Amino acid sequence: MNDVIYETVISTVASDGTPHVAPMGVRYRGADVILMPFKPSTTLANIIGNRHAVLNIVADTRVFAGAVTGRRSWPLRPAERIDGVRLSCALDHVELELAELSDDPQRPVLRMARVFEARHAPYIGFNRAQAAVIEGAILVSRLRMLPAEKVDAEMAYLQIAIDKTAGPEEHEAWGWLTEAVARHRATAQASAQASTQASTQEPTREKQT
Ligand SMILES: Cc1cc2nc3c(=O)[nH]c(=O)nc-3n(C[C@H](O)[C@H](O)[C@H](O)COP(=O)(O)O)c2cc1C
Repeated sequence: MNDVIYETVISTVASDGTPHVAPMGVRYRGADVILMPFKPSTTLANIIGNRHAVLNIVADTRVFAGAVTGRRSWPLRPAERIDGVRLSCALDHVELELAELSDDPQRPVLRMARVFEARHAPYIGFNRAQAAVIEGAILVSRLRMLPAEKVDAEMAYLQIAIDKTAGPEEHEAWGWLTEAVARHRATAQASAQASTQASTQEPTREKQT
């Protein structure tokens, strides 16, 4: 049986006070929150540094699409009880303290205990476009690993939910994701052309030497 995973945003602070925001899938174990960051991870380094993090429950999926397209600067507010920050757009936020760290060469497991939590806005229900943006963000984060046809087929399917149910925030987030796919294709095509040119020029160079 798979773990049940919830997509959230973890905010942390570095020792010099620099805030950091990263989407992360979390597991809930009783009252505790389990984080599993892949190394290397700024989130991991920050939690090891000050033992704290904030879990943000958000409905604004631009934070997810932004993280995989180089947009990480979101309005933040100070946490109530810990050395940390929360997203201003969080529906709920939970302030966490490191209770146990099980280290691993690739993916350590951090058990985080709740210190404080607060609700800022109601959750108003499932939105298919928000789910599509999350799935699209995961595809964009794996562009180098996935075949182009798979990415195109999945983006085309997700586009249906965007066209039928998105609000302005989801349309903006989806735009960032489709731009990222196009940019990746253009870069991959340019490097393929460069290597084809290099291999066709090779015999000429051999003749010259
Ligand atoms: C929906 C979603 C879920 C993610 N979940 C995880 C996760 O559980 N662990 C992880 O290391 N990265 C996860 N990522 C990728 C991180 O957000 C991204 O790599 C981030 O930069 C983490 O590294 P950092 O701590 O150095 O920022 C996820 C990304 C998305 C879009």
